[in-house]
Amino acid sequence: MKLSIAALTLLAGAVSATPIATELLSLEGGINTRYSSDITRNIFCKGIHSHNDYWRDVPLYTALSLGVLSVEADVWHYDDDDTIYVGHHTAALNAQRTFQNLYLDPLMDILTQNNPNNTFTVNQTSPNGVWDTDSTQTLYLFVDLKTDGDATWPYIVEALEPLNEKGYLTTYNGTDVTYGPITVIGTGNTPYDYVVEHTDRYYFYDGPIATLNSSYPATVNPIASGSLSQIVGDIAPSGLNKTQYATVKKLIDDAHDAGIMTRFWEVAWWPVSTRNTLYRQLIGLGTDLLNADDLELASTFY
Ligand SMILES: *[C@@H]1O[C@H](CO)[C@@H](O)[C@H](O)[C@H]1NC(C)=O
Ligand SMILES: *[C@@H]1O[C@H](CO)[C@@H](O)[C@H](O)[C@H]1NC(C)=O
Ligand SMILES: *[C@@H]1O[C@H](CO)[C@@H](O)[C@H](O)[C@H]1NC(C)=O
Ligand SMILES: *[C@@H]1O[C@H](CO)[C@@H](O)[C@H](O)[C@H]1NC(C)=O
Ligand SMILES: *[C@@H]1O[C@H](CO)[C@@H](O)[C@H](O)[C@H]1NC(C)=O
Repeated sequence: MKLSIAALTLLAGAVSATPIATELLSLEGGINTRYSSDITRNIFCKGIHSHNDYWRDVPLYTALSLGVLSVEADVWHYDDDDTIYVGHHTAALNAQRTFQNLYLDPLMDILTQNNPNNTFTVNQTSPNGVWDTDSTQTLYLFVDLKTDGDATWPYIVEALEPLNEKGYLTTYNGTDVTYGPITVIGTGNTPYDYVVEHTDRYYFYDGPIATLNSSYPATVNPIASGSLSQIVGDIAPSGLNKTQYATVKKLIDDAHDAGIMTRFWEVAWWPVSTRNTLYRQLIGLGTDLLNADDLELASTFY
């Protein structure tokens, strides 16, 4: 396990009421005092999307510690360099903050831990996911391409291959989607054509919620997203008005009828009372992923 002390401290604090010092001591107890697959014990999953997840002090683990179903990494790729960098803008990029270090390696570690191969598990047909409380729940990994889509996406596909080999990714085989521990959703500059043309794949597309049609089936985009403020225009301090509410309701209902989950971004975060109203309205309308920058706050809405 390559958990940093910061991540351990954070997880220990978030997953149970055990004092952190006790928790850390018990970590040293070894196999007799601690399960090896319990990194996420006692955490219940919530329909939250960790927007710009890599901005947190402890990316990925913070989201997992709060039961957040979906995380997003902005990725960059440059010619003659195999590394995939993670960051909001170029000034934030460095050699340590890579897709491999921040997401792929930790996910492989967690899933390897959650899927021991022994006499008790020999008959298990599908792997456990990241959460102990619901091992069948997939984690959505949004990969937001910031550099050219056609040039970058093949590198993402290659980087994901080890997780795919282990059976840890949700796949599409031309007719059916088979859910695995992680569902990769390409967004930003992800090339739609590339995704659609590959009928045997372990990655999906982020559908345009405002303009869904038969070109965007659930097998291509299990989730569709859109900017709330672009869709409904100016939002009054009291939240969505009747017309806006009906517009959003129709988009969510239509997506759900097509088997597609929904996510709205650019939800006003100020004034606080407006944001709270919008969160409640969106949850009430049945949106699947609440787009959140403040995960702890968002987790209090469920
Ligand atoms: C589990 O271990 C057995 C025995 O060592 C091996 O034959 C099998 O391929 C392993 N399965 C996986 C999924 O690694
Ligand atoms: C696995 O399946 C075999 C054959 O049905 C059975 O004999 C064995 O007890 C099972 N093992 C476990 C751990 O369930
Ligand atoms: C695709 O997966 C489904 C579900 O596992 C299976 O029934 C079907 O035979 C598979 N199709 C192909 C072409 O492999
Ligand atoms: C779906 O909408 C897109 C534009 O948003 C358009 O390019 C495409 O042709 C449409 N597909 C169908 C089947 O109408
Ligand atoms: C709702 O808000 C939109 C955008 O600000 C506005 O155009 C529309 O007239 C409002 N509708 C109602 C019923 O208040």
